Amino acid sequence: MTRWLFLPCSTRAGGNTLALARAAAAHLPAGAEAEWFDLAAPPLPRFADLRACGGHEAPVGRLAELARATLEADELVIASPIYWYGLAGPGHEMLDHWSGWFEVPGMEFAAQMRGKRLWLISVRADATPGAQAPLEDALRRTAQWMGMRFGGALHGVGDAPGDVLNDTEALAQARRFFTTPEA
Ligand SMILES: Cc1cc2nc3c(=O)[nH]c(=O)nc-3n(C[C@H](O)[C@H](O)[C@H](O)COP(=O)(O)O)c2cc1C
Repeated sequence: MTRWLFLPCSTRAGGNTLALARAAAAHLPAGAEAEWFDLAAPPLPRFADLRACGGHEAPVGRLAELARATLEADELVIASPIYWYGLAGPGHEMLDHWSGWFEVPGMEFAAQMRGKRLWLISVRADATPGAQAPLEDALRRTAQWMGMRFGGALHGVGDAPGDVLNDTEALAQARRFFTTPEA
């Protein structure tokens, strides 16, 4: 069995990113067990950088749930709208917390993340080719820096909720996305 963790980041309910992620998740490989963890609702607590003073403690509450789901997963799928050429805030907030978890005594977060696989699903309004590149590059680098593999990126275009369901190319790619990993 392979554990898949889907991490939707949109700040609105019923949006395009969730629709594209669900379309891809309908075609998970055999033996997959999926868990969904909405990073936006309820919101994660705001990260504060306490590294220099050794102040990072074991996560509690919603962060503990996220840490548990993250560490149990083999495959992590960040599903984010593109905001200002990058990740939506809730996704960024999660990655910031990863930086804190590196410092938590006994958590061994960095070691436990190595070898897991990271995937990206994004939707944006700007259909210009390359508008998705900064976000994809950031997550490829994130995976590399973490010692994770990068499974691939699936990008759709849409603005109003539901628009992405008209992106027939993205929907076609969604059907084979998880069964044709890059690494
Ligand atoms: C704060 C904000 C920033 C955005 N920045 C971009 C952007 O840089 N490039 C782009 O193509 N679309 C941008 N958009 C449009 C969204 O990516 C688009 O509406 C997307 O479909 C939203 O996905 P969702 O329905 O899953 O929330 C932005 C939207 C918001 C609210």
